[in-house]
Amino acid sequence: MKRDPKSRGGSSFMHEQLRPGVVIQVEPPRNNFPLNEEAEHSVLVGGGIGITPILCMARRLKALGRSMTLVYSCRDRVDVAFLEELRSYENLHLHIDAEAGGVLDIAGVVKTQPANAHFYCCGPGPMLAAFEAATAHLPPAQVHVEYFTAKQEAALDGGYTVELKRSGKSLQVPGGKTILQVLKDAGVEVAHSCEEGVCGACETRVLSGIPDHRDAILSEPEKAANNTMMICCSGCKGERLVLDL
Ligand code: FES
Repeated sequence: MKRDPKSRGGSSFMHEQLRPGVVIQVEPPRNNFPLNEEAEHSVLVGGGIGITPILCMARRLKALGRSMTLVYSCRDRVDVAFLEELRSYENLHLHIDAEAGGVLDIAGVVKTQPANAHFYCCGPGPMLAAFEAATAHLPPAQVHVEYFTAKQEAALDGGYTVELKRSGKSLQVPGGKTILQVLKDAGVEVAHSCEEGVCGACETRVLSGIPDHRDAILSEPEKAANNTMMICCSGCKGERLVLDL
């Protein structure tokens, strides 16, 4: 695993503390990036470490005999992973920034693909932003992205009340705190993991009130429906939220 100089904990821990024989607790994977196996054509775009879920999708589509285009972009050739395996894919486009003199032209890739294709992207923030811009004209159901860092700043304005319907508690959210932090401070146990709106662990049902959605999990129609919210990063657009907790 590559050591990230800006590690948020994971890669530092792997390099500094993880040794053969150390026992670590893991949870089952949660899939917020499902593959549509019925698509006539799929376009898989991976950037850097983002190739990990993309390669799993490519393997599955290959096993099913489905049509796909696989695009893998890295800063430098030394960063390329799984090269031997990737070379076995017919429609592989490998882009090396250092050799091409710039980043991948995602809009150019999208333009050359069939309009009914399903598009997938996992990679660093700027790549995902370029991908979302390039696919903005497509039906949302055909566009799939996987963020592994926060897409937006958390809502920290505060100044509203969160009512927990099932436990009968009512808590004030002050400026500078997320709902999750307020619940933890009050001793309320809720599922959570990334605390950045990218894993979906803290998804909570909203019974009333309008959330200020800041996560990278819910689709735009899901955000508009306001049925659930990620309480680690999203806030409230009014004075009160009632949650199913
Ligand atoms: S804890 Fe991961 S989305 Fe909230």
